[in-house]
Amino acid sequence: MRSKLTTRAGRIEEFKVKNRTGRDDAASSGQAGSDIAQQSTATPSRARMRSDDYAKLFQDLEQELLKGAKSIGVLGLTGVTFQLISSMISVGLGSRIEAVYAFPSATEVDRLPVPVRPFAALADSNHDVLVVASDEDKEDLLRAAIPFVKSAPKVIVAGYGHLQFRDGAFLQELSKLLVPSLANGYPNTLIHLYQCLTNAAQLGLNGVIAEFGMFKGGTTMFLSQVVERLGMDWPVIGFDTFAGFPPRRSLLDMYDHEGCVFTDLSAVKRYLASRNVEIIPGDIVETCHRLETEDIVLSFIDTDNYSPAKAALEIVQHRTVVGGAIVFDHFTGVDRFRYTLGERIAGSALLSDPRYFHLHGTGVFYRQR
Ligand SMILES: C[S@@+](CC[C@H](N)C(=O)[O-])C[C@H]1O[C@@H](n2cnc3c(N)ncnc32)[C@H](O)[C@@H]1O
Repeated sequence: MRSKLTTRAGRIEEFKVKNRTGRDDAASSGQAGSDIAQQSTATPSRARMRSDDYAKLFQDLEQELLKGAKSIGVLGLTGVTFQLISSMISVGLGSRIEAVYAFPSATEVDRLPVPVRPFAALADSNHDVLVVASDEDKEDLLRAAIPFVKSAPKVIVAGYGHLQFRDGAFLQELSKLLVPSLANGYPNTLIHLYQCLTNAAQLGLNGVIAEFGMFKGGTTMFLSQVVERLGMDWPVIGFDTFAGFPPRRSLLDMYDHEGCVFTDLSAVKRYLASRNVEIIPGDIVETCHRLETEDIVLSFIDTDNYSPAKAALEIVQHRTVVGGAIVFDHFTGVDRFRYTLGERIAGSALLSDPRYFHLHGTGVFYRQR
């Protein structure tokens, strides 16, 4: 018995090594975003699951075994699958896993000690339990299985990775950035900017994109790339002093951090030279008038302070086209940026403007009429 288990475990190890190249490398390389994007729509096979989530998965499976489950099917051929087979073998229950169901792209499975079948083969199975062997890709695996499962076996899942924003185009554009975006006032800032642009393109809006507070131009480049990808001709107009935070005009101008100061305007110009981007250097309180006659599709307000945000808002509030949006980096947040409160107070003016719809916790004001 012992030698049989050792042989099986050895096969699993051998299989893991053989299949490591590609999946693991892709996840750790700079191209991870685009690789993930392709996989999420075509061949869901990533295997990342936190160890505490795996422990919960296995615990739930143990419960089912104790209740008498005899036949287990595994959805997905992933690192979790190998871990699970290994765990089951180590407790002498390897044979309870009757089959692994995988996408056709899963190859080189001849050495796995469990048969690997297409999802369609679930139609001929009668498992007591189906274990979903992926965190992020669990929805894809369940969708692939559901047309074929005739009974209602107990399903075991773990982790919350499926709740992540999983848009391939978004991840691709993000992975292309050479200069990182500092749009991090709240965790979903970039996602919301991307969604607003996508929605505006679907509506066929015309106008410009404005960014108040460019810093090194990381987000400016992101916005410009997404606009191009959407096939729109919206220019991006970016504002910054490129000389640090101006002297305080208000008690609400509370933020001034050396980590947010970038003065090399020519470097930003070089970085954005090939893009449809206009850079307006100077204090936003004075330069924001550049937008007085523009129709605006999207404004990103990231000045950190009250005075420039208020000045920008006084224009963009009235120039934003229906279907467009105003997004603040510091209207909401989680445990960070206490001293950017002034930007939020400036933005609060929109809460009583019926033309705008704001969902709490987003910092996105959607122009609805
Ligand atoms: C947090 S950084 C912006 C980050 C950038 N939006 C990004 O996503 O990478 C804030 C920027 O606002 C600029 N800023 C603050 N007050 C300003 C003002 N009154 N006029 C122009 N720029 C200002 C600062 O110079 C700084 O570069």
